[in-house]
Amino acid sequence: GKVRAPTHIISTISDDRGEEPCYAGVPMSSIVEQGYGVGDVISLLWFKRSLPRYCTQFIEICIMLCADHGPCVSGAHNTIVTARAGKDLVSSLVSGLLTIGPRFGGAVDDAARYFKDAYDRNLTPYEFVEGMKKKGIRVPGIGHRIKRGDNRDKRVELLQKFARTHFPSTKYMEYAVEVETYTLSKANNLVMNVDGAIGTLFLDLLAGTGLFTKPEIDEIVEIGYLNGLFVLARSIGLIGHTFDQKRLKQPLYRHPWEDVLYTK
Ligand code: ACO
Ligand code: LMR
Repeated sequence: GKVRAPTHIISTISDDRGEEPCYAGVPMSSIVEQGYGVGDVISLLWFKRSLPRYCTQFIEICIMLCADHGPCVSGAHNTIVTARAGKDLVSSLVSGLLTIGPRFGGAVDDAARYFKDAYDRNLTPYEFVEGMKKKGIRVPGIGHRIKRGDNRDKRVELLQKFARTHFPSTKYMEYAVEVETYTLSKANNLVMNVDGAIGTLFLDLLAGTGLFTKPEIDEIVEIGYLNGLFVLARSIGLIGHTFDQKRLKQPLYRHPWEDVLYTK
């Protein structure tokens, strides 16, 4: 009989062997003919299933809102310096991407993880925040360098508005709002940031569709899918910054001495 040789790779998201490539079993032609968007493609390739329109729209809104935040943020700064050092597109892009992490743009999964745990354990905002403080951990999804209680992040407001209108429940995000009310009573910069809004709203999205089991939701957050949204989104802006610097023929960047405190 036939002997099945063991494979060295297992893949479950796409297949290019037939007449046309398929994403999670959906052929390319259906994707085009049915007018699918990037949100649908992400649903198929990341979550291996089609999601309702309000979910794919939410994914697309996250991507559009996080695509860029000006030249001064960590990622864009690195990309600009790298492009000005004469490096190529991929080098400039990854140099910016490498800044994404627990402080900048990469707090989405941790926000989902910690807020979910606190909500599921019925912790009051006080118990949650003060418990984190005791452990010496900053609350992921809270705090911003320039946003304040009296100058909120518009992106957060837009995401909240969309979800409150379209999601069956926004319980995790509303819990984060309660936490934010408490943190704002401590300091004016401790607002809910875009990582916190996406992290908690994605929990609401995953739970609200009924298409994901509890272990699947835990796995998504554990693996770190949600930071992927910021990485993907910000790549758009970082590529733009690379082209911008090259178009402007900017010279090698050197930081001014005056802006460094030389001390022993
Ligand atoms: N939770 C609890 N306390 C906080 C938090 C937080 N998330 N953020 C700041 N504080 C408090 C702390 O007491 C801190 O003092 P410490 O240095 O002794 O811990 C004090 O505020 C001042 O903090 P700064 O370092 O001056 O605040 P900064 O403006 O530099 O920090 C930052 C901004 C990095 C976003 C911070 O709030 C943070 O680490 N947040 C959690 C991570 C996060 O959500 N990052 C995503 C930001 S949004 C984005 O990048 C797209
Ligand atoms: C961003 O999206 O890059 C910002 O929220 C970070 C910042 O410091 O403005």
